[in-house]
Amino acid sequence: MSLNILAQTEKSRAINMYTRLTEVIPAVDSSVITSMETLIKEGNHIEAAKLITNTDDFYNVGLKNFAKSFTDSENSGDIKLPINDMSATIIGFTKDNLNFSTILSEDIFYRYRAGTPVNVSNNVHYESNEDNNVNLRTDLVQDTQSSYLNINESRVAGLLTTRGFAVNGYEAGTNRAAINNIMNQFLCHTMEQVQDSTRPTSRVGKDVFLVPNPSIPHLFKTRCQGCHGLMDGLRGAFAYYNYNGTRLTYINGTPDEKYNINSENNPTGYETVDDSWISFFNHGVTSDFGVSLLSGNGAKSLGISIASSRQFSNCMSEKVFEKICLKKPRTKEDKLVVEALARDFEDNDYKMKSLFEKMSVHASCIGEIGN
Ligand code: HEC
Repeated sequence: MSLNILAQTEKSRAINMYTRLTEVIPAVDSSVITSMETLIKEGNHIEAAKLITNTDDFYNVGLKNFAKSFTDSENSGDIKLPINDMSATIIGFTKDNLNFSTILSEDIFYRYRAGTPVNVSNNVHYESNEDNNVNLRTDLVQDTQSSYLNINESRVAGLLTTRGFAVNGYEAGTNRAAINNIMNQFLCHTMEQVQDSTRPTSRVGKDVFLVPNPSIPHLFKTRCQGCHGLMDGLRGAFAYYNYNGTRLTYINGTPDEKYNINSENNPTGYETVDDSWISFFNHGVTSDFGVSLLSGNGAKSLGISIASSRQFSNCMSEKVFEKICLKKPRTKEDKLVVEALARDFEDNDYKMKSLFEKMSVHASCIGEIGN
């Protein structure tokens, strides 16, 4: 134990921090590593980390891949996914130190400064800039979604109304995929993990068979209800949204027809008549998610509810840990760091850049030999 600590010089620690945050191996005698070494010798690890989050490498490689992982709805781990409005917005929020608890509700998105103009019906603006290696640290700018979407600002909900989210969440189906993706990407759980048949069924849609299989009469109660009780209560938020194959659409006051299809499956099920949503997170296994806003109308209020929950902060902290340590936090020590930095994230205006810096100082994997 003490041998390991002795063996790690300030230089190797600096290189380790740099490599983990940026995914780029620095030259051992580069000016940033030399400056970091001095700061680490003085015990000033945070200032050393800040030198890294100011480099082009951090934005153009490490943070970019982190942001892209949120758009990977299949969890394929494919870093060749093109950048899009959703990942660019995650990078922009981090770069400009915006409050991450507003990222699912504000009328904000990020685009490149120049190049092919933004078109809400395709991803060319992002892909052509990425192909030209345009610098994300210097050439990403903030803009409003409402000015491009022709949707009122009150109907815009941060990442939830980006094209990148819409393509995976609202295309065809029943908009339940949107809830599934929120669960995976922003709350770090699968629907399988959070299913619980003690939640109310009052919002389960008519398309979910009450008796899916006559030979298993209790299947609805034991299985379907576990997911649909929660998911169907939340999906009302997206009743007026659709992805039509090229872009996000919004029709105020008219639930998309996908909400009330196959109603013969369960005539006693809930009929969607508006964009109200009810959250049953405070029932069953999700009651410790710390969700406090439990109902509302539309995507913006749902986004506020999700991103102000305790589990959202835990999830962001966990994702940053995984990014830096290349593993899930499993030991007691790692879990304590993730928990402490999640609370710190909340207490300091949800600054993602700062979460990266602090994690690179406190995560034990940085100090381990051979990493
Ligand atoms: C582990 C969670 C989970 C369980 C359990 C579950 N579902 Fe689902 N269900 C989902 C998700 C997620 C979707 C959305 C899939 C998509 O659109 O990508 C969905 C979609 C559906 C749909 C809409 C399909 C469509 O697109 O038209 C129906 C109908 C449905 N489920 C019925 C059932 C029935 C009946 C049961 C019990 C036998 C059940 N589900 C159990 C998670 C679950």
